[in-house]
Amino acid sequence: MYIWLTIIAGLAVLPFLLKTVFDPYFGQDCSYIFKAIKLGIRLQKYKKKKPFYSILDCFLDTVKKQPNKTFLHFEGTSHSYIEVDKQSNKVARALKTHANLKEGDTVALFMGNEPSYACIWLGLAKLGCATALLNFNIRSKSLLHCFSCCGAKVIIAAAELKEAVEEVLPTLKQRGISVYLLSEECSVEGINPLSEHITQASDTPLSADLRANITSKSPALYIYTSGTTGLPKAALVTQERVWTASFIQAVSGVTSQDVFYINLPLYHSAGFLIGLTGAIERGITVVLRRRFSASQFWEDCRRHNVTVMQYIGETMRYLCNTPMKDNEKDHKVRIAIGNGVRSDIWREFLNRFGDVAVRELYAATEGNIGFINYTSKIGVVGRVNFLHRRLFPYTLIKFDIEKEEPVRNSKGLCIQAMKGEAGLLVGKITKRSPFVGYAGNDQQTEKKRLRDVLQTGDLYFNTGDLLRIDEQNFVQFQDRVGDTFRWKGENVATTEVADILTMVDCIVEANVYGVKVEGHEGRIGMAAVKVEEGKEFDGASTFSQVASYLPAYARPRFIRIQSSFEMTGTFKMKKVTLVEEGFNPAAVQDPLYFLDPAKKTYVPLTEEIYSSINTREIKL
Ligand SMILES: *[C@@H]1O[C@H](CO)[C@@H](O)[C@H](O)[C@H]1NC(C)=O
Ligand SMILES: *[C@@H]1O[C@H](CO)[C@@H](O)[C@H](O)[C@H]1NC(C)=O
Ligand SMILES: *[C@@H]1O[C@H](CO)[C@@H](O)[C@H](O)[C@H]1NC(C)=O
Ligand SMILES: *[C@@H]1O[C@H](CO)[C@@H](O)[C@H](O)[C@H]1NC(C)=O
Repeated sequence: MYIWLTIIAGLAVLPFLLKTVFDPYFGQDCSYIFKAIKLGIRLQKYKKKKPFYSILDCFLDTVKKQPNKTFLHFEGTSHSYIEVDKQSNKVARALKTHANLKEGDTVALFMGNEPSYACIWLGLAKLGCATALLNFNIRSKSLLHCFSCCGAKVIIAAAELKEAVEEVLPTLKQRGISVYLLSEECSVEGINPLSEHITQASDTPLSADLRANITSKSPALYIYTSGTTGLPKAALVTQERVWTASFIQAVSGVTSQDVFYINLPLYHSAGFLIGLTGAIERGITVVLRRRFSASQFWEDCRRHNVTVMQYIGETMRYLCNTPMKDNEKDHKVRIAIGNGVRSDIWREFLNRFGDVAVRELYAATEGNIGFINYTSKIGVVGRVNFLHRRLFPYTLIKFDIEKEEPVRNSKGLCIQAMKGEAGLLVGKITKRSPFVGYAGNDQQTEKKRLRDVLQTGDLYFNTGDLLRIDEQNFVQFQDRVGDTFRWKGENVATTEVADILTMVDCIVEANVYGVKVEGHEGRIGMAAVKVEEGKEFDGASTFSQVASYLPAYARPRFIRIQSSFEMTGTFKMKKVTLVEEGFNPAAVQDPLYFLDPAKKTYVPLTEEIYSSINTREIKL
């Protein structure tokens, strides 16, 4: 394996040497390739080790090397590596004795961002258990669904989530699930308080024999994919996958001197794998926040000398929306790792907050392919390079937005997208880039598998994302399938329309989607918008904005005023219910507006207008 990788490395560099003497990105390509190869070799070494060298072992080695270094800063308290280690020993001992946990068991963790999150996960890892990271915003049916699909026998919940647990307690009891609450006491029958047991337990290390059978393929975590549609799915994250995700900091240039700021929920891969376990891999200090706050962001960074920040979805936009201050460039943040930032915001962010290297990456928790922008080109998620493509074969295929399925030729095979054309990213499922699927959900797992892609019988992972590769081999993220709809034969990217809408004075946020209209193909544009406090929705200026920036087919024909948006844990706006509710004024309580091209404004959507649309007196 080792030799083989080295040969590939040599081969990989050769074509670049021949072809790219004038390529300005040549150096960056090489440096990335070498970094990636070094990490690949390290992972091979860990996998060969008997027993397997896990991220927990890495943590324990760091504890030995730098026991007194701060591992976690949280709300004014600091916890050194050795303190967290000892605390997790107590957790492990308490759970071993009282919950009778052993290697191979799965435990669901239901709590918000706080240092105990890390202690409990480490404690469970010391017992050889996998942890399912439940989203603490979910309740009732969704909570039960998430809990049961990972096959956990035990749930550990934060004290403040007691009521959410009580709500589903009868079902949990029925299924023989043990329920633990992180509090000193609890009067509810069937909920066991855990804190006292942890306090009383010894903090001496546990024998590694307890987890002797763990291999690179063992389940380490279950992470739920943020469902903008339907119920969340539990992605099984193996020990090996934890390592590859933890290397992202290293690939992005984070060193052992850095301080990492986590303000994303730890129940997602961004916060947990790229943030927390990535920090363990680097042996650095983490500044942990309960939740993201745009107004506190830079204050926190200054106070703790943060050098690496994380972003996702809308967080960069929120930062750019904060009022300007004189000291905005006064901070030590040098790297930002994340994904989902649009190029205009990216530019604005750099203008306002100074020279931060933005490592925009593309990856899915359960996916088998990822990219990272390792050059200095704004707006791209990565670059095609020979080695990457060799090791992790992927391709972009033509996609039919209307039918939401790949285009196939007469032989039933998919068609590769041309350079510059948006296509569906699919990654070949191989031993090196496996797709282990979703726990307890074969149907969803099968849905993500795509067969007969380039050859009859081959098997790919369907990322559900549309990307574009340009002439210079830069990879650009286009859209998530479902974030695009089709109207009058044209594709409308919802994020683009939302950007245009939020430039209107009275609109603070916009959630754009397509709705069905009787007798029409495709979906027509509609936007739910949040109006700035103290202001009125201004139909005329909204019209003039969309008319000047958007082609007619992309202009939202209907506008729905909402006082707040329903969000997923990663700040993605929920659309499904909105799409279903449509634009019937009799069914929707919120104020509705209709774009009237003749009057050049948005007018209130009345019952008359609604019925004229249905009878097609009003042409859309
Ligand atoms: C860590 O701190 C403890 C107590 O303050 C001290 O005894 C120990 O020598 C320190 N260890 C290292 C490696 O600095
Ligand atoms: C590891 O596996 C062996 C063989 O399957 C088994 O005998 C042993 O009890 C296992 N160890 C643990 C800690 O489960
Ligand atoms: C941040 O850095 C400054 C200057 O290097 C130093 O004086 C200060 O103690 C550091 N603060 C923290 C919290 O590490
Ligand atoms: C990614 O793009 C940004 C553009 O500002 C750049 O600063 C950064 O260095 C790029 N590369 C990496 C690896 O982040």
